[in-house]
Amino acid sequence: MTVFWRSRVGTDRGANDGMVGEVARSHTGESRNLGQMARILLTGGAGFIGSHTAVVLLERGYNVVLLDDFSNADRGVLERIQRISGIEIPVIEADIRDELALTRAFSTFPVDAVIHFAAKKAVGESEVEPLLYLDVNIVGTVRLLAAMQRVGVSRIVFSSSAAVYGEPEICPITEAAPAHPTNVYGRTKLVMEGMITDLVRTGAIQSAAVLRYFNPVGAHPSGLIGEDPRGVPANLMPYLCQVARRRHPFLRVFGDDYPTPDGSGIRDYIHVMDLAEAHEFALRRTLGHGGIVTVNLGTGTGYSVLQLVAAFEAATGKKVPYSIMPRRPGDVAECYADASLAAELLQWRATRTIEDMCRDAWRWESRAAF
Ligand code: NAD
Ligand code: WQD
Repeated sequence: MTVFWRSRVGTDRGANDGMVGEVARSHTGESRNLGQMARILLTGGAGFIGSHTAVVLLERGYNVVLLDDFSNADRGVLERIQRISGIEIPVIEADIRDELALTRAFSTFPVDAVIHFAAKKAVGESEVEPLLYLDVNIVGTVRLLAAMQRVGVSRIVFSSSAAVYGEPEICPITEAAPAHPTNVYGRTKLVMEGMITDLVRTGAIQSAAVLRYFNPVGAHPSGLIGEDPRGVPANLMPYLCQVARRRHPFLRVFGDDYPTPDGSGIRDYIHVMDLAEAHEFALRRTLGHGGIVTVNLGTGTGYSVLQLVAAFEAATGKKVPYSIMPRRPGDVAECYADASLAAELLQWRATRTIEDMCRDAWRWESRAAF
């Protein structure tokens, strides 16, 4: 059975709090070794990257608790995670800014570590509603860290972003590159990284892994879970999928005059399953070591917009009409990772190809259409 525990910032906690279902039995298979028996709380676990990470962790024998306010996720994802994994997991519906709800969650489900996905993540929106981003991302993380400290949870894996680098001086980007975010969203990530670093330095947190994702795309190969943007997608892959599905007449290619081989912008697209698996590697390190690591999660290879269109057409057999438009304000010519530190510190490397990303994104998109 799944636990639903509802609690929202600014609502009457007395009326909304408390169990409305039966307490779940977390999955603990007998054949699993002790190292894999840890219980992990995933904030934002119903979202795009969180849901895929939940599936990977469940498959690898971890006990998983999801916490999400469903502000950017469909509750239907919970049933689909269960269908893929065959495991029912506890779910707490709460806002990370609600420290009381977090403390109660930790008391009800003692955990060994937290993976902190929950955040607002739209770059454009962050420039329009900066205070919302400061509140959810920064205040929310302060409350989470405070609740963790109160109950003695001292290990965290944190979702950061290549957005912390801003306009890169050199590609591939190493973790030592200067961090000069160019928007509010990226700055909140850098501030949160700094907070976690300080807590590790001062001993309040024992161990942390800060993961700077590049451009996550694709979906679980079952086609049951994937990226589910609300409204018109701002990111390339979901928009491109919607063009293939004929929801838009053509893809707008933002610029063909960049100093790149074909003139379109280059990014480091990474399959969300590779990314999800990286979290398990990061978790293992965080559970087994003290201190903090900060690593890029990318493939280390950049693809241009036009290369992605060609790969998508080859992988899916779908035509993607496009039209060249002016550059999008704030975009850079190229942004791709030096992925060697993650290989060295986490023993993780991305393995899936650009064709895998396109095929799996399309399987999810075409399934979601019917
Ligand atoms: P997502 O929006 O799909 O998932 C975030 C989840 O957090 C959602 O389920 C949402 O409902 C939940 N959430 C938001 N505010 C909350 C709150 N106040 N309390 C509780 N839950 C809340 O996003 P995603 O793509 O899965 O991203 C996960 C993390 O990775 C985010 O921190 C994001 O900034 C980071 N990241 C994402 C990308 C990307 O391109 N998707 C790239 C780099 C970094
Ligand atoms: C990729 C390329 C566009 C849409 C953003 C955030 C980053 C991270 C990931 C959270 C660029 C081009 C796009 C379209 C296009 N998110 N493009 N037509 O901007 O690299 O990164 O998402 O942390 O912080 O900034 O990703 O997918 O928007 O763009 O031509 O309709 O596709 O110009 O070259 P971006 P994207």
